[in-house]
Amino acid sequence: MPKPEVKLHYKNVMADVIGNEHGITPEQLKDLADKTSPLIQQLNKERQDGETPYRDLPYNSRISQQVKELVKELEGRCENLVVFGIGGSALGNIALQTALNPYMHNLDDTQRSGPRLFVFDNVDPPQLVSFLDWLGDGLDKTIFNVISKSGRTSETAAQFMIIRQLLLDKLGPDSLQDQVVATTDSRHGTLRKIAEDADLRCLEVPDGVGGRFTVLSAVGLFSAAMCGIDIDSLLAGARDMDTKVKTEDFHKNPAAINAAINYHFYNRGKRIAVMMPYSYHLKDLSDWYRQLWAESLGKAEDLAGNEVHIGPTPLKALGTTDQHSQVQLYREGPNDKLFTFLQVNNFDKDIEIGEIPDCAPELGFLAGKNLSTLLNNEKKATEYVLLQSKRPCLTVIFPKVDAYTVGQFIYLYEVTTSFAGALFNINPYDQPAVELGKEATFALMGKPGDYESGYTYEEFEKKIKSLTEIDEKFLV
Ligand code: PA5
Repeated sequence: MPKPEVKLHYKNVMADVIGNEHGITPEQLKDLADKTSPLIQQLNKERQDGETPYRDLPYNSRISQQVKELVKELEGRCENLVVFGIGGSALGNIALQTALNPYMHNLDDTQRSGPRLFVFDNVDPPQLVSFLDWLGDGLDKTIFNVISKSGRTSETAAQFMIIRQLLLDKLGPDSLQDQVVATTDSRHGTLRKIAEDADLRCLEVPDGVGGRFTVLSAVGLFSAAMCGIDIDSLLAGARDMDTKVKTEDFHKNPAAINAAINYHFYNRGKRIAVMMPYSYHLKDLSDWYRQLWAESLGKAEDLAGNEVHIGPTPLKALGTTDQHSQVQLYREGPNDKLFTFLQVNNFDKDIEIGEIPDCAPELGFLAGKNLSTLLNNEKKATEYVLLQSKRPCLTVIFPKVDAYTVGQFIYLYEVTTSFAGALFNINPYDQPAVELGKEATFALMGKPGDYESGYTYEEFEKKIKSLTEIDEKFLV
C-alpha cells in the first residue's frame, strides 16, 4: 500500500484563479523559482556544515532510544504526566497530543494507553491551583517533566520550584528523583545544575537547536511516547518529508514553494498568514506553527545589519468554528491575507447524521451523510467564498491524520521556515526580543547582577517601571 503523503496544493494562489492583481502569474512564479532555487542548495550546504542540526533530528536514533528506555522504566508508575515548559518547550507537546490522541484521552480510561497529560505553559495561579486540588494525594502517581533549554525561563523555573516544594513537603527528599524528569541542555544552564545536584532523571535538548525546532527531539518525543504515540512513525514521516524538502528542483520541493509563495504575498501587502485546519486533531498544530513562524521570521535586522522590521503575522483559525466568527472579515475586509487550509481526506472515525424530524423536511440534505462530508464540504465552501473575493488560498492535504503524516507536516513547516528566513534574508534561529522580555521579568522580580542586554538590574527595573506604571491622568 502506498504511504500516505502530505501534499501542498497551490493552484488557488495563482492568477488564473484569482486574477492578476492578487494572484501569482506564471512569470512571477518563474521569478520566485529563480530566486529560491539557489537557496535550496544553500540550505542543503548549511545543513551539511552542521549549521542547522534540527534537520537531522529525525535520524537520531539515540534520542528515541533514550526516550523509549525512560518510558519503559516509568511504565505502570505514572497515571498523570505533567509537562512544565513554555513556547518551544510546550507547544509541540500540546500539538502532538491533540493531533494523535483521542479528544477524551484524559477523561476516559478506555481511550488511552498511557497517562493523562497536562501541559502547563503559563503561570496562571488559579489554573495551577485547580489542577493541584484535583491531583490531591496523587502526587506519587504523577511524573513532572520540566522542560527548559536555557534553564533560565522564569515561568518554568517557578513551576518547578512550586512542585519541588510540594514533593519535598508531601513525599520527602527522594521524591524528586522518583517523580521529576528534567529535559534541558546537555551541559549548561540552571536546570542542568539543579538536575545534577538532585540527581534527577534527565533528557537532553539537543545542542544548537532553538526551542521551536525541538519537537522531534526528547522535548516533544517523551510526552508523546509516554502517552502512547508512535514516535517511530512520527520520525519516519519527518524523514520522508526530508527527501522532498531537500530536492533541488524548486517545482518538486514543497517547503521551497510554500516559503516562496508566503514571501511573494508578504511583499505584495498580504502580511497576514492565516492557518485554518478543518480538523480538531490538527488545531494545535496551528498554534505550534504560529510560534515557529512569528518567532523565527519577525526580525528587526536583516543579515547585513540593516533595520528591516520584517515578518508576516501568523493567525490561527479553526474550520468550521471560525467560519462563524472570522470569515466575514476574511472575505469582505482588507485583502491582506494568505490562507492555508489543512484538509483531512479520511478521518479515522466518522459518524452518520441521523434521520430528518418529520416536521423539518428542509434538513433532508443532511440526513444520512457522514459528518466528515459536512466538514470537508464546509472547507470547500469557505475556500470558494474566499476565492470569489480574490483571496489566495493554499491547502495542505493530509490523506489521514496519524503519526506518520503529522511528522511530515512538522518537518515541512520547519524547513519552510528556514526557506522563508533565507528569502527574507534574516536569521530565523534567534529570538532577541523574547530574551529581552525574559530579562525584563528578571529585573521586575528582583534578580540582581548585570544582564546580557547590557543593563544593570537597577537601571533596567527603573526604566521598565517608568514606562509601565499606571498614570492616573490617563485612567478613565
Ligand atoms: O523557541 C524558543 O527559543 C523559545 O520559544 C523558547 O522555547 C521559550 O522561550 C522557552 O525557553 P526555554 O526552553 O529555554 O525555557
